[in-house]
Amino acid sequence: MFHIENMTPKDFEFAVRLSNTMNWEATKEDFEFITNLEPNGCFVLYHDSERIGIATTISFGQVGWLGNVIIRENHRGKGGGSLIVRKAMDYLTNVGVKTIGLYSYIDRISFYTRLGFKFDSKFIVMKGDAFFEPVEFPFKPVSKDDWPAIECLDRKCFGGSRSKLLELILSDRSNICYVYTNDKKLLGYAVAKVSNETSEIGPMVCQREHTNAALNLISKLLGNLKRREVSLCLPEKETEIRNFLMQHGFREQLVLARMFYGAPIVNDFVYVAESLERG
Ligand SMILES: CC(C)(COP(=O)(O)OP(=O)(O)OC[C@H]1O[C@@H](n2cnc3c(N)ncnc32)[C@H](O)[C@@H]1OP(=O)(O)O)[C@@H](O)C(=O)NCCC(=O)NCCS
Repeated sequence: MFHIENMTPKDFEFAVRLSNTMNWEATKEDFEFITNLEPNGCFVLYHDSERIGIATTISFGQVGWLGNVIIRENHRGKGGGSLIVRKAMDYLTNVGVKTIGLYSYIDRISFYTRLGFKFDSKFIVMKGDAFFEPVEFPFKPVSKDDWPAIECLDRKCFGGSRSKLLELILSDRSNICYVYTNDKKLLGYAVAKVSNETSEIGPMVCQREHTNAALNLISKLLGNLKRREVSLCLPEKETEIRNFLMQHGFREQLVLARMFYGAPIVNDFVYVAESLERG
């Protein structure tokens, strides 16, 4: 018999072990981070007394995100995956979320389609080593005074308020964050989340008519990352940015499908995902 419990610190080691059977490079700190942000929205699936699966969520007002969905290999195909995803969807709906997003492997699209999600667009995960390239724009490092404008621009793009997540990311001194302003108006921002040897670029949001600034924001971050390995997840349609990164040795590692349950998020910003599990 299946049952589902909330994820707690005693589950982190299991969650890391299970996630890393898919090479998701998850750490205990990742699960600590997401359960702190959404203490009642991260789940463990049991078969009798054995833990066999996990799923995490995060709610941002009207928009929520689903991630880290995985079932132990020998327990797949028996309805457990659908059960834990439905539990996560119910949780998000009950806290007021109207649109749930996720990034799916292309060959799992049908699994989520059966649960009511619809394909939105393709995203590409790219990886490479940071490089230096001169930047044309006078970008400014983020200060606390910029937070309200960043949160406002981000909400216009994302459809829900990511304040609780952005404030943690922007206040972490290991991270590198720049804003692009013109006449004191914030037109874009970008963050690189930095750990010892690796870094992830995202979130980034920039107004569509300033695509060139978006490309330069990414360049500016890369120039600060001193040959660390860097990954980022961006829409397939951003060919200019993808080509620029590929010319500098980045590879396209993975193609994913962004899917939505409920009304899709529609916007026309240049966007880099914050992470696969939080959008
Ligand atoms: C994706 C994943 C979570 C699905 O979990 P699962 O427990 O196998 O899911 P379910 O059993 O509910 O559904 C899987 C399939 O089994 C079928 N199924 C469901 N109940 C069943 C049952 N009682 N008997 C036989 N088949 C069943 C479903 O129709 C579904 O078919 P589909 O693959 O064509 O969609 C699991 O395959 C997994 O962990 N994969 C690796 C990680 C991963 O890809 N995660 C998703 C990231 S996007």
